[in-house]
Parts: sequence; C-alpha cells; structure tokens
Amino acid sequence: MNSILDTRPALRAEIDSVAEVAGYLWQKGWAERNGGNITVNITEHVDDDLRHMPALTEPIAIGTTLPHLRGCYFYCKGTGKRMRDLARQPMQNGSVIRILDDCASYVIIADEPVMPTSELPSHLSMHDYLIGSGSTYKASLHTHPIELVAMSHNKEMLQKDVMTKILWSMIPETLAFAPLGLGIVPYELPGSVRLAEATLEQIKDYDVVMWEKHGVCAVGRDIMDAFDQIDVLNKSAVIYMCAKSMGFTPDGMTPEAMREVQEVFQLPKQRPC
Ligand code: 13P
Ligand code: ZN
Repeated sequence: MNSILDTRPALRAEIDSVAEVAGYLWQKGWAERNGGNITVNITEHVDDDLRHMPALTEPIAIGTTLPHLRGCYFYCKGTGKRMRDLARQPMQNGSVIRILDDCASYVIIADEPVMPTSELPSHLSMHDYLIGSGSTYKASLHTHPIELVAMSHNKEMLQKDVMTKILWSMIPETLAFAPLGLGIVPYELPGSVRLAEATLEQIKDYDVVMWEKHGVCAVGRDIMDAFDQIDVLNKSAVIYMCAKSMGFTPDGMTPEAMREVQEVFQLPKQRPC
C-alpha cells in the first residue's frame, strides 16, 4: 500500500523517530496494552499535494476550540493502538489529521482512517498553547512511567515542586536536562476536556507534568526531546526508590551543589532548588 511517507523523506525521518521512541516506551515497561500516546506537529512537512489530499473521514469534533491550530497537521497515535505495534508500523497504528477552519474539528487524511488517541484534547490544547506562545516545540508525549506514577500516590509528593526538588537532587543530570521540573495535575478522568484544561495550566510553567495516579505528559522540540525529559526524571525516581528500599531516605545533593549545576549549565531558574 502507498504511504504519504514514500515520497517525503523528511516526514519519514520524523515518523521513524516516533516509532523509535514508541519502542523505547514498550521496552521500559511504560506502555502496557495501549498505554500512552504521541502527537507531532508535522505542518512544516506538508506540501500542496498533502494540503489537497481528500479526507478519509467526515469532520470529527475535538471537544474544544483551539484557534492557533487552523490548517495544522498532526501525526497522532491511534486510540487503542499499542506502542509496541506502532514501533514497527507507525502508519497502521497512527494517522495524520488536518485541523479544519472552525478550529474545533479535524479530518483524517492518511494513510488509513485510524482514529486518533483518546487524549487528543490534551495533546492539541498543548500544541495550541505552544504555537500561540511562539514556541518551536513540535512534539507531545504521554506515557505511564512506573516509578514516577508510584510517587504520585502520596499527598505530600503532590504539593507544588516537592517532587521536582527530590528528583533534581538525586543526580545532577536530572536538573540539567529537565530544568523546569515536574508540574502536577490533580487526578482527572483520562481523555477528558477537564484533564486537557488542567494540563494546559501546568504546561505554561513546566515541560513535563504528572497526571496524578495515571502518567506523565511532556512537550519537547521533537519526540526524542520529550522522551528524554521523562526518562531523566524517572531515572531519579528509580534512584529515590532504590535508596528507600535499602532502608534510608536519600540525602540528595545539597542546595549549593544544585545551584552550581544551574550556574554552570546556564539553566533557567524559575524555581529555586
Ligand atoms: P489511547 O489508546 O486512546 O491513546 O489511550 C491510552 C492512554 O494512555 C489514555 O490515557
Ligand atoms: Zn494514559
């Protein structure tokens, strides 16, 4: 079967990267069954042929109106699709959608009419915010990282920036490579517009947000960047839990050592260490 990727090497490279990350999510045990979802803004790769490509579906409502997305195109994981399958066949387990002029609905254009992820309201709300704020970020990733989700089952950890400070202090690279920390979104129903609205509030201040007792959602320049941020944060969560299971609470780096990392790596300092 023909694919829109056949004649578009730059778009193919983008989707290959999505497939690579999907494989990592499965290998890490973060993607049980259909767990997690990925969307990438691919509008920069869209040529006239794609713009005129007939829709495979009738218009489908997003559930919210997103004014900056008019005429944008996204690759989206399919709802109910498995990351481990997407890793091998990204265009059978995801599809490309076009946002219509009402900014409240979309059509699927390629390769197959695979319905996008149930978390589309959250993903598209974040993309809308990113475009509106002039960001160059293109990718959004939601996944179920075991140790981070475990930490969200505790009220104290859900206080603003409590988890961020613990995670940053476990290993210098976490502070360096997830310098905005981890925002907290109190529990909401998966796939709901309420979850999208709460996520949007946090993504204004954080690149990665915790969906309480569910998973993590990140935005990044590309899908690898979004994945890396979650990966370094979860690495810290694993170290914290290893120390706890050895019977002690880890000391963590000192505030001075953390501030030194902030200085040397010239990190943003929205949040004190
Ligand atoms: P989808 O299969 O609809 O992408 O849902 C997976 C998920 O993790 C929902 O939060
Ligand atoms: Zn989920």
